[in-house]
Amino acid sequence: MSELTVIVLAAGGGTRMKSKTPKVLHTIAGRSMVGHVLTAVRDAGASHVVAVVGHQRELVGPHIEQLMPEATIAVQEEQLGTAHAVRVAVETAALGDPAGDGRSTVLVAYGDTPLLRGESLRALVADHEAAGRALTILSGIVPTPFGYGRIVREQDGSVAAIVEEKDASDEQRAITEINSGILAFDARFLAAVLPKIGNDNAKGEYYLTDAVALARAEGMPVGAYVLDDVRQTEGANDRAQLAALGKELNARIVTRWMTEGVTVMDPATTWIEADVELEPDVTILPGVQLLGATKVEEDAVIGPDSTLKDCEVGAGARVVRTHAELAVIGAGANVGPFSYLRPGARLGDRGKIGAFVEVKNSEIGEGAKVPHLSYVGDATIGEGTNIGAGTIFANYDGVAKHHTTIGRHVKSGSNVTFVAPVTVGDGAGTGAGTLVRQDVPPGGLALSAGPQRVIEGWAQAKRAGTAQGEAAAAAASGKGAGTADEREATHTGDPGVGDPGAGATQS
Ligand code: UD1
Ligand code: CA
Repeated sequence: MSELTVIVLAAGGGTRMKSKTPKVLHTIAGRSMVGHVLTAVRDAGASHVVAVVGHQRELVGPHIEQLMPEATIAVQEEQLGTAHAVRVAVETAALGDPAGDGRSTVLVAYGDTPLLRGESLRALVADHEAAGRALTILSGIVPTPFGYGRIVREQDGSVAAIVEEKDASDEQRAITEINSGILAFDARFLAAVLPKIGNDNAKGEYYLTDAVALARAEGMPVGAYVLDDVRQTEGANDRAQLAALGKELNARIVTRWMTEGVTVMDPATTWIEADVELEPDVTILPGVQLLGATKVEEDAVIGPDSTLKDCEVGAGARVVRTHAELAVIGAGANVGPFSYLRPGARLGDRGKIGAFVEVKNSEIGEGAKVPHLSYVGDATIGEGTNIGAGTIFANYDGVAKHHTTIGRHVKSGSNVTFVAPVTVGDGAGTGAGTLVRQDVPPGGLALSAGPQRVIEGWAQAKRAGTAQGEAAAAAASGKGAGTADEREATHTGDPGVGDPGAGATQS
């Protein structure tokens, strides 16, 4: 392949989007439409890219520069037609007079065709160069050609011209072979033909497609390369088309992952963005969205009903009904159901983040567990530690955030509050309901709740006549349903009652 330059046209208005966001910046599969096109262009092996911007160029230009810093940005002040846009590109980038006599190809593509693949561009360029044409059209057969330029062919099948919808005769409108808009040019032919293109047509625009008839008139070879998968060249002009292309692109991505060995139970409710990476034998259950740069390793099972954005999931992990962003889940770990992992949540191998647990900016060690109803913020939890149900890491003092460090193999009771900054040593423990305000040394047991106080006969005295009072009175007189027996069993069956040590750990 000789030197390939690609001109991407992205100066148009996109008024039908009815959006403050420029059309080509609308996203599907986690990438802007023009981002998808630039990916295809890069995959096609372009050595030089020129992007033509106009409408909202203060947004479109920097976006393209960010995605492809090496691209040349050409500004088309007024949108006078596709030939005018290409002329602006050729002049800005000084194309068309390649040094020496080496052939070079210029491809024209549009910035709003997100399904486009690099391999299709490569196939077009290969066909164009092998045939040695001045111009090759990427065409396709569509059931409803309305709005497209039609490919008019001679009796012998050769391409005669492209006729735009508004300039076409009824007979020409019946043609179903259309111009996708993507054209491959010999660079020198392109530079020579652009000044010859006028704007004497129904729209009063400079049509790039007029280059076909002009080449024919000069006896230069032109042709069309028919792309079977013509949807690749479809553009989105409004939100409905954007959604339709988004759905189609997703279906293609999901199908590709299944081909690569990923089990997807319900492709229709599975959304996988373009930059996601999955290993073979990952299983995805219904209602899952894998977004951004999410990576999932082999044998992990995701779903049902989970959204993971920019997350890493280790081999064999299980993630059920979870919302997670910028989180790392270790191999063999369990997350969910109903877990919320915020940026910086890192769960070690075989660890657990359970139901109704929110974790932010915290490292939870290997095999450590936060199984139920907890908030863990700005914490380090050592390996093998178990955090009791209903635990809160109080990281915010109203002014600043502070860190909590919990050691290895700590057993923390239920309903504990760790008031940061605080440190709990290895092998330590906290009793249920403890308010941990001071550091706990390794092996220590922290208790803050006072001893339990019982006022005997309170319900009979203060709640007489209520169901509570009557139940209490009945129990006291030995008529409660089995109550006395149960008390008896407790006394005889539990030699630990009355042991001050056991009593202390229970309080
Ligand atoms: C164009 C083709 C038509 C083809 C169709 C495929 C021409 C004359 N017609 O028609 O044969 O079937 O695409 O979709 O080329 N643009 C600029 N500057 C301009 C004009 C357009 O950057 O001055 C960009 C637009 O942003 C858009 C693309 O070029 O991305 C196509 O322009 P548009 O006006 O939509 O052309 P169509 O009428 O669709
Ligand atoms: Ca168009």
